[in-house]
Amino acid sequence: MLQPTLTTIESQTNGQKPPTIAPAQGLDNVVAAHTHLSHVDGQAGVLVIGGYSVETLALNATFEETINLLWHGSLPTASQLTALQQQLASYRDLPAATMELLRVVAHQKISVMDALRMAASTLSLPYADGEAIDSLERDSLAVVARFPTIVAAYWRLLHGDEPLAPKAELNHAANYLYMLTGEVPSEARSRALETYLNSVVDHGLNASTFTARVIVSTQSDLVSAIVGAVGALKGPLHGGAPGPALDMVFEIGTHERIEPYLRDQLDRGERLMGFGHRVYKVYDPRAAVLSKAAHAMYEADGDMALYKLAQEVETTATKLLEEYKPGRNLQTNVEFYTALLLHGLGMSTALFTPTFAVSRVVGWLAHCFEQQRTGRLIRPKSVYTGEYDLEWVPLAER
Ligand code: ACO
Repeated sequence: MLQPTLTTIESQTNGQKPPTIAPAQGLDNVVAAHTHLSHVDGQAGVLVIGGYSVETLALNATFEETINLLWHGSLPTASQLTALQQQLASYRDLPAATMELLRVVAHQKISVMDALRMAASTLSLPYADGEAIDSLERDSLAVVARFPTIVAAYWRLLHGDEPLAPKAELNHAANYLYMLTGEVPSEARSRALETYLNSVVDHGLNASTFTARVIVSTQSDLVSAIVGAVGALKGPLHGGAPGPALDMVFEIGTHERIEPYLRDQLDRGERLMGFGHRVYKVYDPRAAVLSKAAHAMYEADGDMALYKLAQEVETTATKLLEEYKPGRNLQTNVEFYTALLLHGLGMSTALFTPTFAVSRVVGWLAHCFEQQRTGRLIRPKSVYTGEYDLEWVPLAER
């Protein structure tokens, strides 16, 4: 149930100035929902998703199992899993209008996130089979199934390639990689992406999730909520810029340059990209999971020298951050190993945030279902800080 614990302000009347009540800046520490979906403990470095530690879930589950867990509260049985896989695969094709839109905007070379936001809003059109949208479950599965198709199709169009039709026999993660690259990925690559998708699927009441909940709280539709959430995620303060963490590793290039490079950055007061987090004050558990996943993938099917260099950069960076910022506990964040893992999968940095959205859309929808069950409109208050009783000045006299 929604907890109305936002700072409450008595209504103002009689033209009297209200007492100044400081709003919770950025809604920090405001509890705005109860959720079964995920729990973030930044002090302990714990992330729980649907009752499982992120380590347990991300490294073991298929992404389809994670969808079932978040939407239905438990892991699926074998027959439920097969049904879910088949349904998802059957919804992957895009409505003709969605594909047409992507073709048009590819000429304008807009960003992948902008294309995703625009294309996502076309997902309330009737399905390719001509059937109108009917159930919440079908709508939601169709949105999840089509996010990778949109991103991959747009990416190919942007680079002058024709979009590829999805392959129904591949799972969600493998099919996404196939649609991007035209190659059926190895088991190691598919597993690495699956681990990534699982580890970022939900993360408490972050900005995009809150946006989605606000939108459905008005009884608006799920597609509107998802479009709003994509818009919120697009901002660099949320979707982040995992590119710079990897750029730093590339710029360093060799083992010998690691310490001098990092010291130089810190001496100049620069921040080391991929380190520090607003919530996690110890090691971000997602970084640990993604480091493991990246290691397995690079070892089986990648450039292990790059992985080792990144690991050395990490060790030296955390040592130097303790030296330069003692007691701050600046640790590796999720962006560092996200960048390494997605790069190893052949993705450019422009695909990092859209790939995050391919996962997080499942969490957004799960939160929408929870919010819908509360039936409560989200409507915080604001403190008026403007003037009172201004006199009207006619246009000619202003
Ligand atoms: N490198 C060097 N110094 C740092 C870093 C860093 N990566 N992060 C924080 N600090 C220092 C700050 O300079 C500050 O020092 P000061 O008090 O001497 O001025 C101190 O640590 C505290 O910094 P804040 O900005 O108050 O810490 P906050 O927890 O708010 O910052 C943030 C979190 C913005 C992520 C920060 O750590 C940062 O800029 N990191 C680098 C960028 C990055 O990796 N972003 C991705 C974050 S992950 C995500 O968004 C999902």
